[in-house]
Amino acid sequence: MGRQSKPIRASSALFPARADCDLLNDILTRELALAHQRVAAGVVTPTLDLASFSRELGEFDFDLPRPLDQVLAWTIAQLERGIVHVTHPRYFGLFNPAPTFPAQCADRIAAAFNPQLASATTSPAAIEIEAHVICSVARRAGFPTYATGHFTTGGAEANYTALLCALTRALPEFGQKGARAFAGPPVFYVSRESHLAWLKIAHQAGIGRSAVRFVETDGSGRMNPNALSDSLRTDYAQGFVPVMVAATAGTTNAGMIDPLLACAEIAEAGGLWFHVDAAWGGALIASDRLRGVLAGVELADSVTIDAHKWFATTMGCGMFITRHAPLLSSTFHVSADYMPSNSLGRDPYVTSLQWSRRFLGLRLFLSLAAAGWRGHAEHVERSVELALLLKEMLLAAGWRIANNSPLAVLCIEPGSGGDVSSIVRHVLASGRAWVSVARFEGRDVIRACVTHGETTRDDVLELVAALAAAR
Ligand SMILES: Cc1ncc(COP(=O)(O)O)c(C=O)c1O
Repeated sequence: MGRQSKPIRASSALFPARADCDLLNDILTRELALAHQRVAAGVVTPTLDLASFSRELGEFDFDLPRPLDQVLAWTIAQLERGIVHVTHPRYFGLFNPAPTFPAQCADRIAAAFNPQLASATTSPAAIEIEAHVICSVARRAGFPTYATGHFTTGGAEANYTALLCALTRALPEFGQKGARAFAGPPVFYVSRESHLAWLKIAHQAGIGRSAVRFVETDGSGRMNPNALSDSLRTDYAQGFVPVMVAATAGTTNAGMIDPLLACAEIAEAGGLWFHVDAAWGGALIASDRLRGVLAGVELADSVTIDAHKWFATTMGCGMFITRHAPLLSSTFHVSADYMPSNSLGRDPYVTSLQWSRRFLGLRLFLSLAAAGWRGHAEHVERSVELALLLKEMLLAAGWRIANNSPLAVLCIEPGSGGDVSSIVRHVLASGRAWVSVARFEGRDVIRACVTHGETTRDDVLELVAALAAAR
């Protein structure tokens, strides 16, 4: 019996026959829809019995394969009980959206075709779709037509990209020699209310966490331009090498927008890279009515906008946009003979951090194609309206609102001696809504952010009632 006579079969567990795939797909679609309904009608917080969950998980020793339909049902049941439900309309949380349906369709399509977006040669259609979306977003943000960019895993990667570009522009030898190429330690500037991924970014970039200058704010959560100028002056005098000012448009805790025009001016005067971290707030570009609050973003050398925040795609899906295409290439260029092409203009693996790359941009493409800018404008506008409604109700009930954000997030203070942590603990224990403890201008607040596209007035009323009961 020679080798030739034995059929070499694919594993039917890994690659089931077409009919079995269809059946499993139908089951999965139905079960997910039912789970979604149960989640919306249930509590926001986990109800998992961790001990029995851990026992069941431990029984997966992977020696004995199990039928996939059973494993799917088990997994859905665990997620239903074992996570904070960001898809619940009373999740007033951390910018994690209930994803749009078109974005969910995109994930299915990307999973089915599994295109490799490292190079345009292997996936020209996918690369062009992503580039088209990036150009449209860049234009909508007021960037020139030659602006470019790419999808990232999220805001942290996009911000990291900005820092690498800033360092490379400040000193082209940085790419070859690293931080030691600089005459003094490179530093960059963010507000003290900025997102703390900047610390990890500085660490990763090899310039050290102490390179992050946390500039004082103005008492209302925005970077103080005078403090920025002072900090720059001190650093120059002490031999540091400033490379970037990164303003935040929509701070994580309070949705505050740094004074973009003043920051742009200061950065330009010093010849520094000006980046705007609009990870969450950037989605306001969709709304003609609200986008004015982002005035100045169009002056930036680069901007971060997360599609997986207020554009409500599935996670993780960020965007990095810059007006300096050649710099992106000089920062990330590399040549590998096993890659099918090496075009600086077209191949993402030579203009971005990632190499193998998922087709992330399809999520925003389908969302924008199906809803248009108008649909996304309505999405952000209704969030802001609901946040205003929540604010009115809370003020009427004697709560204080510490922030004054044009976005959809409130920093709530109980007033007269209530304890923030204990109130949040009680709300979470009730399972009626999800809010969190945050710091705003040095004090503890209850953070409530409208993130779900289907949150209603009744959900807001329920949150107010849950807060009142916990006070
Ligand atoms: C303002 C801001 N920038 C950056 C990030 C990091 O984004 P990601 O979690 O997508 O990496 C966040 C996350 O919430 C953020 O709020």
